[in-house]
Amino acid sequence: MKILVEKSEPLKGEISAGGSKNAALPIMAASILCADKCSIYNIPNLTDTDNMKNIMQSLGCVIKGNEFDSSNLCGFEAPYEEVKKLRGSFLLASPLLARVGRAQIPLPGGCPIGTRPIDLHLKGLRAMGAKINATHGVVDISCKRLKGARIYLDFPSVGATENLIMAAVTAKGTTVIENAAQEPEVEDLCDFLNKQGAHILGAGSGTINIEGIKKLKGVSHHIIPDRIEAGTYLAAFAITRGSGRVKNVRSEHQKPLMAKFTEMGVRLYEDGEDLLIDATGTEKSVNIKTMPYPGFPTDMQAQFSSVLSVANGTGVVVETVFENRFLHISELLRMGADIRIDGRTSVIEGVKRLTGAKVEAFDLRGAAALALAGLVAEGETEISGAEHIMRGYEDFCGKLRGAGAKITAQKD
Ligand code: EPZ
Repeated sequence: MKILVEKSEPLKGEISAGGSKNAALPIMAASILCADKCSIYNIPNLTDTDNMKNIMQSLGCVIKGNEFDSSNLCGFEAPYEEVKKLRGSFLLASPLLARVGRAQIPLPGGCPIGTRPIDLHLKGLRAMGAKINATHGVVDISCKRLKGARIYLDFPSVGATENLIMAAVTAKGTTVIENAAQEPEVEDLCDFLNKQGAHILGAGSGTINIEGIKKLKGVSHHIIPDRIEAGTYLAAFAITRGSGRVKNVRSEHQKPLMAKFTEMGVRLYEDGEDLLIDATGTEKSVNIKTMPYPGFPTDMQAQFSSVLSVANGTGVVVETVFENRFLHISELLRMGADIRIDGRTSVIEGVKRLTGAKVEAFDLRGAAALALAGLVAEGETEISGAEHIMRGYEDFCGKLRGAGAKITAQKD
C-alpha cells in the first residue's frame, strides 16, 4: 500500500483520536481470564486489533461486536501465521496460562525497531511457578495454579508488566511487581480487571500489588483515548504551522509532549477532553530524550523528529527505549532533512524546506513521521510500506484530510 502526500496548507479544524491500540490489545487478551461475557467499547478498527481478535477466535473465544465471550475457550496454542503478524499476541500468554494452565505461543520475534525480547515476561512467570520450554520457535508455558511472587523488572517493560498483572489476578496469594511500567495503558488494563473484582493496587505507579482472587466477573469497559494517535495529530498541526482542535485527549497523558511543544513556541489550551493547538508562530527546536512513562514517549520520537526537521535551530534526539528506532531518518534525509545519527542519538538541524520524494516506511510510527514530513515538503511524497499505518491508525488519511491535508492512500 502507498500513501501519497502533497504539500498542504497549515492544517485547520478538528481531528478526533480514537481508542488506544496499546490499551485495547492487553484488555482484549485479559477478557480471556473471565468465563463470563465482557463488553469492550472504543476498540480502534486496526489490523493489529483485527489480528488479536482472529487469534482469540481461533482459541474458541466468541466475539460479536463489542462483546467478548470466552466461556467456551477450547485451546491454548496461538497459530504462528497470526502471531507473526502481531507481536502483541504474546499478551495472550498469561490469560491462557491462568485460565487453562497452559499457553503455547510462537516466539513473537523481533521487528524493525528492535529484537523485542520477552525475557522479563518469562522471568516473572517462572517466579510464579510456571514451567517454560522455548524450542522450535515456540514458548510452551504450563502451570496448574500460579502462585504470587515478588518480581523486580530490570526494565519497566509495558508488556511484561501487563502479562504479570494478568498472571497474578487469579494466582494463589499476593504478587508485587517492582519497577513496573507506569503507562496509562497499564492503568487502563488494571481498571478493567479491578471492575471484574480483581484486587490491584498501585496501577500507574512503579510498584503494583495484586492479591489473587478465585474468579472474575464479566463487565463492560470503555478503552481510554489513544495518546500516541492524538500526539501524532498534534504534530501534524505543529509541522504545518496550523491551528485547530484535537478531540478525545486526556491531557494528563500528554504532559511530556505538551511541555516540548510549548518549549518550541506552540500554544496549547486544554478544553475539557480536547486540546486546542495554535502553531501559527515560529517554532524553535528543542531536545528530546525518550523514556518510559511519564517521560517523553518513544512512540512519538519519529513524528516529533519530523517536526524538528523544519524547526528553527538544532534539536538533539536521544532514543533510550528501543535500539533501532531511527529507520525514518534515512528517508527524511532523502527529503532534504539535515540529520546526523550517532548511535542512539540523532542531531537534527532544522531546514527551511523539504522536498517530496519516493520514500519507504519500515515501521508504524516511522510511517506516520514520513506522512507528516510530506505535508510540508515541496511537491509530492510517495510513501511505500504504508500498510504499517493501518496497524496503528484508524482512518489516518481521512482524519488528516478533514483538517485540510492533501493525503490519500493507494492500494498497490
Ligand atoms: C509496548 O511495547 C507498546 N506496544 C509499544 O508501542 C511501545 O513502544 C512500548 O511498549 C514502550 O512504551 C504495545 O503496548 C502493544 P516494552 P512492549 O516491553 O511492551 C525491553 C507502538 O508503536 N524488554 O516496554 O513490547 C525491550 O527490548 C508500539 O504502538 C526487555 O529487555 O515494550 C525494549 O528495549 C511500538 N525484555 C524495552 O524493554 C522484555 O522481556 C521496552 O519494551 C521486554 C522488554
